[in-house]
Amino acid sequence: MRKATKREQSSAGPRIAIAIMAAGKGTRLKSKHPKVLSEVGGKPLLAHVIASARQVVPALDILAIVGYQAGRVRQAVEHTGISFVVQEPQRGTGHALMSARQALAAYDHLIVLSGDAPLITPETIKKLRDFHLKQKPAMTILSAELADPTGYGRIIRKGKSGDVQAVVEEKSCTPAQRKMREINSGFYAFAVKPLYEFIERLKTDNPHAEYYLTDMAEVLRKAKQKVMAIRAHNPSEILGSNTRAELVDLDRKIRSDKCMQLLSTGVTIFYPETCVIDSDVEIGADTIIEPFVQLLGRTRIGSDCRIRSYSVIQNSEIGEGVLVRPGCILDEARVANGAALGPYSHLRPGSDIGEGAHVGNFVETKKARIGKGSKANHLTYLGDAEIGEGVNVGAGTITCNYDGVNKFKTVIEDGVFVGSDATLVAPVKLGKGCYVGAASCITEDVPAESLAIGRGRQIVKEGWARHKRAGAKQNT
Ligand code: UD1
Ligand code: CA
Repeated sequence: MRKATKREQSSAGPRIAIAIMAAGKGTRLKSKHPKVLSEVGGKPLLAHVIASARQVVPALDILAIVGYQAGRVRQAVEHTGISFVVQEPQRGTGHALMSARQALAAYDHLIVLSGDAPLITPETIKKLRDFHLKQKPAMTILSAELADPTGYGRIIRKGKSGDVQAVVEEKSCTPAQRKMREINSGFYAFAVKPLYEFIERLKTDNPHAEYYLTDMAEVLRKAKQKVMAIRAHNPSEILGSNTRAELVDLDRKIRSDKCMQLLSTGVTIFYPETCVIDSDVEIGADTIIEPFVQLLGRTRIGSDCRIRSYSVIQNSEIGEGVLVRPGCILDEARVANGAALGPYSHLRPGSDIGEGAHVGNFVETKKARIGKGSKANHLTYLGDAEIGEGVNVGAGTITCNYDGVNKFKTVIEDGVFVGSDATLVAPVKLGKGCYVGAASCITEDVPAESLAIGRGRQIVKEGWARHKRAGAKQNT
């Protein structure tokens, strides 16, 4: 947050801060976790609100009011560079702003957002800001007309002037007020001076015995201050998430909007309603996403890829023209252009698959670099491995990277041919262009261009089976 001294030195326009109320427990979710960390579209509610706020003011001017499990909430969004103030105990939305008084001293105006309403767009925040700065009331409420206003505070207008007389919470509504459909979104703009001049007048004479920020409408009006409301263009933007059912609805909406946005940028998604795509995922044009695919976290996929059904890809980076066959699982992996994976490949963190490389059926990789054009097509485990270009890793090859205490590295240089069912006991190095015979257990480095065989020699006992069967017959 900016300091008062800096403020005084500056001769620029009005200083505007955004405060996000995020201290509540979220009792109605019946969860041990703080409500604002509930995820929709693959990230916490609060992270969505911060992302929108960031489009309106710099992170320096954003303040999250935290309280319930403050440490966890703070840790989850600290990387955004915003500031925090702790509200302890949590005695209502009005009390949340009382706790932020000092932090906001250097500002002229304050926009208040709710940490549990993630659909708010930067455009709407700007609209609220511009209306507030132009009309200059002490308080501007963002309102909305909802077909079903149940659970929201109702806006009571003052005659025809358009000014607001009061906000009445659902629980305190008269039957006539309950029928009113203009509701309080929980987003406001305040002139900081009158807000803090009169905030101490809030009382707790309500069913929850809390300080309601909504009561500031009446408090300010009684202090002869102007209170106004502006309707949100798109009422769905203000939807909050007080219950699990509302969280699921929000998640569905965010994901379906995400799919629509991707379709509009040239990505094909078959049966988008079966796919789970997080809001921060990026996908290039002409990539095809088949049904029942999950793309999570910070995943980035280039153009001209095909992601086949039942693949789950998380925090991974995929180049262009990559084929991911059905049933692959990727987590913190990188896959270069033209590579092909699966079916049923498991790429764990630190997997780095080179250009045109193939990783096939039931192959697991972890901290493994696989060079350009190399192939590991069947039933293999490659962990802590450095594999060069043009390498063929035979079916069933295992890097034995763990001795029960420490992990060791396997190095396979360019052009190596590893026969099927090899066990490579790390640390071990297979030199450039060497061959490893099938079923070998390799415990020592193999020099370049040589052949290593490490297995028992085959014995053949002619006629043995016939004798065995004859013997068995005599015994019955
Ligand atoms: C609030 C409004 C209601 C409005 C609705 C819109 C009040 C009294 N009511 O009700 O008029 O229609 O939002 O969604 O404000 N919080 C704190 N500290 C607290 C209590 C809450 O920071 O002591 C935070 C919560 O974490 C949440 C936000 O404030 O992010 C809103 O609180 P919530 O309890 O969800 O208010 P509503 O009942 O939804
Ligand atoms: Ca709410």
